[in-house]
Amino acid sequence: MSSSAPSKAPASGSGAGTRGGPRHVAIIMDGNGRWAKKRLLPRAMGHKKGVEAVRNLVRSLRENPVEALTLYAFSTENWGRPADEIADLTALMKHFIRNDLDEIAQAGVKLKIVGDYSVFDDEAVKLIDGALARTAGNNKVTLAIALNYGAQAEIVRAARAAAEEGEITEEAIARHLDTADMPPLDLLIRTSGEVRLSNFLLWQAAYAELYFTDVLWPDFSPAHFREALDHFAGRERRYGGR
Ligand code: IPE
Ligand code: IPE
Ligand code: MG
Repeated sequence: MSSSAPSKAPASGSGAGTRGGPRHVAIIMDGNGRWAKKRLLPRAMGHKKGVEAVRNLVRSLRENPVEALTLYAFSTENWGRPADEIADLTALMKHFIRNDLDEIAQAGVKLKIVGDYSVFDDEAVKLIDGALARTAGNNKVTLAIALNYGAQAEIVRAARAAAEEGEITEEAIARHLDTADMPPLDLLIRTSGEVRLSNFLLWQAAYAELYFTDVLWPDFSPAHFREALDHFAGRERRYGGR
């Protein structure tokens, strides 16, 4: 085959993560409700514990360096949940920004949102805008939070934008995805034992390694994250070649 054949494989030596680690990891943080149910607690407690797991994970990025981490926090389908649960999740998101932004900003984390967050209430939108502006100059690690995110809608938006520019090509669609400025997705983790993608990063996951664990999100610790990274380091990625 001609060496000019198109390849999905990144050029070697293109700044891959340390020791063969993934550059971009994404997590479907699932299982908050079941964690609470097992303890006869309200679901909101599961979500609250879930935020603590996020905080611990972000803190652990010093020891587990990746270039980018994308966390699925709220899907376009999650609007189908009861209003009080949506209110709890929105309140937790606001509290997280108020409480953790200083630490995140000082740690050199650049925040990013994937999905259309303009649909959340004005107070939430203002807090998010402030957090994005505050961390825009950071470059240690990109932390993308997926809010009101759905991959199918994202692909439609990107295809439309590509069409407006001219030809719809893979490259043009990729350039208009919400993740356009992030490294290619290397590793996709889902907690809680469910083995599905739930409309998350469908395009980006084309050649990502998939890692499923039964651990419920509130129990997911930096050590579990380390295990997933180690698992990735042991995978042979073939990109369709031999
Ligand atoms: C994930 O936990 C958090 C969100 C989807 C916001 P769930 O709330 O989906 O928990 P389970 O799946 O019911 O256990
Ligand atoms: C996926 O989890 C969305 C998030 C983790 C934010 P869900 O719990 O909403 O997904 P399904 O309903 O099990 O597919
Ligand atoms: Mg769930």
